This record gives sequence, structure tokens and C-alpha cells, in this order.
Amino acid sequence: MIGRLNHVAIVVPDLEAAANTYRDILGAVVSEPVELPDHGVTTVFVELPNTKIELLHPLGGGSPIARFLTKHKHGGMHHLCYEVDDIYAARDQLVEAGATVLGDGEPKPGAHDKPVLFLHPRDFCGTLIELEEA
Ligand code: CO
Repeated sequence: MIGRLNHVAIVVPDLEAAANTYRDILGAVVSEPVELPDHGVTTVFVELPNTKIELLHPLGGGSPIARFLTKHKHGGMHHLCYEVDDIYAARDQLVEAGATVLGDGEPKPGAHDKPVLFLHPRDFCGTLIELEEA
């Protein structure tokens, strides 16, 4: 069902510092920050030859990643994003298999304006998983 690894997401306490680290020290191509109010995050994408790194920082009150930073002061890995061909078919198959889709269970536009949804970490080896329709 899952296809390519679309990105690995890292929550960071300072988005500009993190973008500078990836651009200036690691020598990667780094995007401008993009605000996603529906998701409560600001993102910067780091383009790698085989995948992307999504740098995440809380946006607004009640951001779902604000608590993550209180537990991980220096930031840390937050989720993996896998591509799927049909997000509704994937969701229905996963729910049938007993997985928990976060939120209201409906796909929402993600960072690339493609529908995404998130799966509870308890069902996937302790890792939060994002599915994106490729
Ligand atoms: Co993501």
C-alpha cells in the first residue's frame, strides 16, 4: 500500500536556525517558510536527492506540536510521511485493519496541497505516520 518515503518531519525550537543549519552547514537546498494555519505549524522543506526533511515549528495557540517541544527542548523526529496512490482507499483499509486515524478521520490538504492524514503511533511501532496522496 505505502509507496515512497515523502519526508521525515523534525520539530525544531527555532525554524530559522534549523533552516540555516541545513542550508549552511549541511549544504542542502532549503525552502522558504510556509505557514499552515489548519495544521498549527510553520514548515520549511529541505530537498534531498531521494526524499525531503520537513522542519516544523508551532504556529498559533493550540498547535499540536507545542507540547512536543516542552518534552524535547532541542527538537526531535516527529513523523514519517509515506505516499499512497489513493488516500481514501488506504484509510478504509487501515481502519478495517484496526488502525486509528487521528482527528476526524478525513484527509486534509497538507504542505503540498495534497490530501494527508495521520495514523496513531501506537499501531505503527511508536511512530506517527502521515499518509500523503502522491
Ligand atoms: Co509531514
